[in-house]
Amino acid sequence: MPAVEMKPNIYWIGVNDRTTDLFEGIWPISNEGVSYNAYLVKDEKNAIIDLSKAFKTDEFFDHIGEMIDMTDIDFVIMNHLEPDHSGVLSTFLKINPNVQILCSAKAKEMLECFYGITENVRMVEDGETLSLGTRTLQFFMTPHVHWPETMMTYDTKDKILFSCDAFGSYGALRGGIFDDDCTDPEFYETEALRYYVNIVAKFSNPTLKAIEKLASIDVKMIAPSHGLIWRNNPSRIVQLYQKWAEYAKSPGETGVTLIYGSMYGNTEKVMNSVAQGISSQGIQVDIFDVARTHVSYILPSLWTKAGVMIGVPTYEGSMFPPMVDVLNMAGVKKIQNKKAAIFGSFGWSRGAQRGIDARCESLNWKLVDQYEFCGAPSKVDIQRGFDFGVKFAKAIL
Ligand code: FEO
Repeated sequence: MPAVEMKPNIYWIGVNDRTTDLFEGIWPISNEGVSYNAYLVKDEKNAIIDLSKAFKTDEFFDHIGEMIDMTDIDFVIMNHLEPDHSGVLSTFLKINPNVQILCSAKAKEMLECFYGITENVRMVEDGETLSLGTRTLQFFMTPHVHWPETMMTYDTKDKILFSCDAFGSYGALRGGIFDDDCTDPEFYETEALRYYVNIVAKFSNPTLKAIEKLASIDVKMIAPSHGLIWRNNPSRIVQLYQKWAEYAKSPGETGVTLIYGSMYGNTEKVMNSVAQGISSQGIQVDIFDVARTHVSYILPSLWTKAGVMIGVPTYEGSMFPPMVDVLNMAGVKKIQNKKAAIFGSFGWSRGAQRGIDARCESLNWKLVDQYEFCGAPSKVDIQRGFDFGVKFAKAIL
């Protein structure tokens, strides 16, 4: 996509990525894509805010070259050192070795560690300003949103907050880059939640601190490093991030994530009756087959819903392994304060639910009910599944 003017002398110069399968090597984006947003600010001195992954480097530099001679860039502001924003930095320095890199103190260490860069690096402090001539940029330290070195850059003239990962989303840009020229904002809000829970959620407390810190700043436009730029309603994405961050310390919304696995359809039969029981009480149920759904898509429901219903058979005397993987990732992402119940089929021995008390305790989930049946479910087992779902729904209500 060619460069887009955001304000006179401020341009989006990012790139879309529709070929990377896994963001961070973990999270699927084959269907959704992602954008690496970077920004050019032209003035008496010229600055670039954030860069790009080492991907389509020619296209990225071509964008810049259409706007300005690369050697006329005075500053590169690195809000964050993760390689999706810094990957082209070494190549950039070969073209323009005199550019000054501005970053936080922690980022200075990372520049050496990731790229061996030690020259022309200027550390900036919280609240420090940089005059470009007619325009002043201000820096705010926002550690752990996402990495410890992260900061944000604020354009005091046009009141644009370049927020880096904060307020970002998966989803390559589809022509329009602004919230007001996007025809499917729901797509980006859905992908913002998945991005939040996959990438940022573990740092919810720093996210809330950053939102509080920036509350007194007059922000007319939020320009994150991934996804839409919010100029029509910048408070929308801030409110969403705030709501999601607050779920770190609360059960979340009334609703149930039903995660299940089934080897031969027996646990699945009862799963359907459990789901009927839950929904009969007017509670939304999100259902995921853990063996067929990447955990990236399960985490948003686990994060936002108050209840977790686990349907899992015994496999070789233990819990069906794909379920173990999902529960482990829930622990990694600190999904807490849930109510949980577990059911499932066993054959010649039990084992799926062994240790579930300790597992729930370590997750900080309250286990409220358990139910196991042997082999294929009878009519009685299926009715029990329905009643099990009703009882759990009432516990959530
Ligand atoms: Fe988009 Fe934490 O990098």
